[in-house]
Amino acid sequence: MTILVAYTSIEGQTRKIAEHIAAQVEKAGERAALFNVASMAEYALERPDAAILCAPIHAGRYPAPFVDFVEREKDWLASVPNAFVSVSLFIRSDDAAEREEALHFPDALMAQSGWMPGAVHHAAGALRFTEYDFFKRWMMKRMAEREGAPTDVGHDHEFTDWAALDAFTVDFVSNAKS
Ligand SMILES: Cc1cc2nc3c(=O)[nH]c(=O)nc-3n(C[C@H](O)[C@H](O)[C@H](O)COP(=O)(O)O)c2cc1C
Repeated sequence: MTILVAYTSIEGQTRKIAEHIAAQVEKAGERAALFNVASMAEYALERPDAAILCAPIHAGRYPAPFVDFVEREKDWLASVPNAFVSVSLFIRSDDAAEREEALHFPDALMAQSGWMPGAVHHAAGALRFTEYDFFKRWMMKRMAEREGAPTDVGHDHEFTDWAALDAFTVDFVSNAKS
């Protein structure tokens, strides 16, 4: 079985998450086709048997090229086992209202595209303070303060729960096979 792991990433954390999922798929004995949705030209060459899509939230929404991809591909997505990994910071917030908001981020994507993922996993992303420009660093530090996340801008901070992601992937692969 070939499983498409399609992603978009602005700061790199969702790419890392998608790479991790692809490695886990291969570990489970299946083939992973890892693609950045911004360069999907080749993916039409093979017909994947299942798909896991991954996208980060930036300023309350998923990147436009990802939304375009989902809108374009929703019919074949619906025809195979499929899942969505939503990457955000709110999902690890100390504030319950922010966590609740994160749980609903996929709703707008589903309403806009008509895609109803077979399963949704919420993964916490990262704060890459050392890579942000001055304005982004200031903005993200304020977000971190609100959330009870580390505000030490001299370091990057990764919040992804890799074990939970592995459990989700293993479960998806085993359901897709049955
Ligand atoms: C400019 C910017 C805006 C962000 N806005 C949100 C947001 O509105 N809600 C949220 O939960 N996370 C937000 N995040 C956190 C990202 O989802 C998190 O950093 C994630 O790891 C980014 O994934 P990427 O590295 O694949 O782009 C934002 C991050 C950046 C840099």
